[in-house]
Amino acid sequence: MTAPVSGAAAFDPFGEAYQADPAGSLRWSRDGEPVFYSPELGYWVVTRYEDVKAVFRDNVLFSPSIALEKITPVCEEATETLARYGYAMDRTLVNEDEPAHMARRRALIDPFTPARLAHHEPMVRRLAREYVDSFADAGKADLVDDMFWEVTLTVALHFLGVPEEDMATLRKYSIAHTVNTWGRPSRDEQVAVAEAVGKFWQFAGTVLDKIRRDPSGPGWMPYSIRLQREMPEVITDSYLHSMMMAGIVAAHETTANAAANAVKVLLENRTVWEEICADPSLIPYAVEECLRHNGSVAAWRRLATADTEVGGVPIPRGAKLLIVNASANHDERHFEHADEFDLHRDNAADHLTFGYGSHQCMGKNLARMELQIFLEELTRRLPHLELVPDQQITYLPNTSFRGPDHLWVRWDPAANPERTDPAVLLRRRPVRIGEPPKRALPRRVVVEGITREAEGVVRLRLADPAGRPLPQWSPGAHVDLEVGGLSRQYSLCGDPGDSAYEVAVLREGAGRGGSRYIHDELAPGDTLNLRGPRNHFRLDPGARRYVFVAGGIGITPIAAMADHVRAAGGDYEIHYCGRDRTAMALLARLERTHGDRLVPHIGSEGTRLDVERLLATPVPGTLVYACGPERLLSALDTATRHWPEDSLRVEHFTAATGPLDPDGEHEFDVELADSGRTIRVPAGNTVLGALREAGVEIASDCEEGLCGSCQVTVLAGEVDHRDRVLTKAERAVHNRMMTCCSRATGDRLTLGL
Ligand code: HEM
Ligand code: FES
Repeated sequence: MTAPVSGAAAFDPFGEAYQADPAGSLRWSRDGEPVFYSPELGYWVVTRYEDVKAVFRDNVLFSPSIALEKITPVCEEATETLARYGYAMDRTLVNEDEPAHMARRRALIDPFTPARLAHHEPMVRRLAREYVDSFADAGKADLVDDMFWEVTLTVALHFLGVPEEDMATLRKYSIAHTVNTWGRPSRDEQVAVAEAVGKFWQFAGTVLDKIRRDPSGPGWMPYSIRLQREMPEVITDSYLHSMMMAGIVAAHETTANAAANAVKVLLENRTVWEEICADPSLIPYAVEECLRHNGSVAAWRRLATADTEVGGVPIPRGAKLLIVNASANHDERHFEHADEFDLHRDNAADHLTFGYGSHQCMGKNLARMELQIFLEELTRRLPHLELVPDQQITYLPNTSFRGPDHLWVRWDPAANPERTDPAVLLRRRPVRIGEPPKRALPRRVVVEGITREAEGVVRLRLADPAGRPLPQWSPGAHVDLEVGGLSRQYSLCGDPGDSAYEVAVLREGAGRGGSRYIHDELAPGDTLNLRGPRNHFRLDPGARRYVFVAGGIGITPIAAMADHVRAAGGDYEIHYCGRDRTAMALLARLERTHGDRLVPHIGSEGTRLDVERLLATPVPGTLVYACGPERLLSALDTATRHWPEDSLRVEHFTAATGPLDPDGEHEFDVELADSGRTIRVPAGNTVLGALREAGVEIASDCEEGLCGSCQVTVLAGEVDHRDRVLTKAERAVHNRMMTCCSRATGDRLTLGL
């Protein structure tokens, strides 16, 4: 329904609009032209979540070899300057192709495991504390210059194992590398930058030689040098020299920028800041949402190694791609109410700020640890912190690394909690080291109203207890409600613009008891835990016409979809089936709103739906959206067999599978690509269960293939899909699975974990 509006010619990744808000500046692209060629840059720009992820996922078709290439060609003089210093930055990890990359990554991963990272925690805490000490009584600070830039650099140098006495020199040089690689320096600047980069390169070599003479110390570089003796063909000299320099930048600026971006967005969302000040156990959730909403790597690069396509757009071999993580992280197709900052978001950790797949950032959990400690220190000691109003925030013009040059904050030192309660200084909570929380933080909602909607159906109105608007949602979205000790899914059926949520609940005698609890025990004023909204039943806006089919309580997501299409001026019809008028929820409202677009099919009135007749003639461009009992959905499936692939989109409300029957199953292995671990899934266990037993945390809710929360990425192997979440087309590509119920067809799956 949206016409493409090409902004390709005007796209300027060095301009102010992109720097200040990369996702906002590319909204036009996500909506209308998600893959476009930028003549200014000579790159294809990719902006939607699924497309960005697909490019990251395939690191053979989309080679990372250009990740550290200079994005702006430099003048001859600068090239000569670099040559004078013997500058030979080459393959590290991030820009290495397979199979060399994976061999090296596997060999070098140990210092990044949670157990090893835990050794750095006291050092990060000590540094964070000392820097806050240095300005706590001043009432004003530039958090970038006065804390984040310095602390993250010192942590990076310690992590790498750089001798203390060389830290000061390396500090001086590191920024030049960013401008050299991702920026657009003027001709004069290029020579000055080349001088600094050349010196950085030479000095990195000197430090490396020093570590080589005694590689027994702690840190990633001494570790790599020790390993070089065992595998010189994997850990080459060229790698070590390049990594000595690139490693500092990888670990330093990314994290300093991420910290500044995080504090900025939290202070701009004051209620969230206050929430984490009051309850610091929320900090790990805040870190993940900060990385999603305001991450520090805005875009990354890949090179197409063969003719291919991305998002349906042909991409020739040799094409360079700028994949914009920051835009993907704000894609409404993946993140509900994507522009809002939501601490309770159920999929914040899906963000692509650390990249994705086999090159995903190795240092992500070190960065997460630093961010948690910074936020903990600041929220505990300076909860009254605020941004200095009207400050001009500027960014270093470059495509990829993004963070404010300065971030001025102020507070009243007389109100520092430590002045009246010195114990504040000693308080600390354990930091979460490792993967972020997988399960969404539930939000408390209050039951504002319970109304009888139809026979056996009640409508609940759920609101924020403090009266704040609940996040927006899109048609087809559902929420998980914890009721009577169970987690149940309900589609949202109210108005997406409303500040409260509405769900309609059918009393199900044979259910697990959730609906009985709602009907018999729940009262207005009660509070409930709610997760979501989440949407696995998205309305594709590209159809020319929509046929909506609902059976019984399946009308709830369909009503929201039909309202949306009507408001957008689209073409549609609704077929609503029920046994009797009195039992059909929302019927009167639909009749009022949709008039003759609504065709009720009522058993007791003899107007049953003839599915075969309705769908006898396939209509190109028409999509059929349906929700209801299994009998109706399988009739629709049969009736649309001769329709174009994926014309039918359904949401089930009963599980496809019964309990696991070990006699009918086979055992298989799942290989975890990131850690190289292999876990056996016995015939009597699910993938989810086996992963959990092996200490790998995966979120889950329904555990019967309905809600989509246990989804993981599949990198290799064929999946025996048993869920009700994925569409036929999604199943066919075998790139994701619901671990609570789906299994392997063969004897092995490789998962993106
Ligand atoms: C790779 C982001 C902190 C080390 C990457 C990539 C991104 C990224 C986007 C490329 C991923 C891909 O191609 O799929 C970030 C961000 C950070 C951060 C946003 C901070 C918030 C760190 C830290 C270290 C680190 C603290 C510690 C040394 C690495 C390494 C790679 C990498 C070694 C290469 C991995 C590979 O190619 O296999 N990072 N990074 N990063 N990062 Fe980070
Ligand atoms: Fe709901 Fe697996 S937990 S689909």
